[in-house]
Amino acid sequence: MLRKSALIAVSAATMSLAGWATHAQDAASAELAAATGDAVAGESQFRQCRSCHMISGPDGEVIQRGSRVGPNLHGVVGAQAGTADEDFGYSGVLAAIGAEGVIWDEENFVAYVQNPTHFVRAASGNASARSPMSFQMRAGADDMYAYLAQFTESESRSDGPQGEAD
Ligand code: HEC
Repeated sequence: MLRKSALIAVSAATMSLAGWATHAQDAASAELAAATGDAVAGESQFRQCRSCHMISGPDGEVIQRGSRVGPNLHGVVGAQAGTADEDFGYSGVLAAIGAEGVIWDEENFVAYVQNPTHFVRAASGNASARSPMSFQMRAGADDMYAYLAQFTESESRSDGPQGEAD
């Protein structure tokens, strides 16, 4: 029995290494690209988000169809909370914690999508704050992070070859 679980652990590690290699080729910024999840699994999980979110690139290309109840999640990984979609009317509490320095790194992202209200309460120190995101992702938040990280340009790299979005 022990042997079997060890094999599973090894194959999971191999898979995430393969994920990392693909990921690095996408030239997401080095730090943020160190996602621990599986981007392919995350892509198929996006159906859980679609009733409220879409993914649409800076050129208007629709990467994932979905509603606009919530913000466009393009570029959300690495962004300050409440800033990725400038056309979206974010809640005051999300904008405030973003202004105080909360960025969507893996740890914050995973905690947020698992329980948005809990996260904004903890981050703002306001125990009666509520998140308008009335959804809790039970499993696979790390995979979702790895998937969404593909849509963050490496703007932070001083020698980055990528041009401006527009
Ligand atoms: C029932 C609707 C709903 C669903 C389903 C939903 N969200 Fe949200 N989400 C929202 C709303 C509304 C906001 C804006 C929150 C605010 O303004 O405080 C949001 C905000 C976010 C943010 C913060 C964006 C930013 O720019 O700071 C992330 C990240 C996020 N959602 C990820 C997800 C993911 C991943 C899923 C699917 C697993 C998902 N959401 C499913 C409604 C939803």
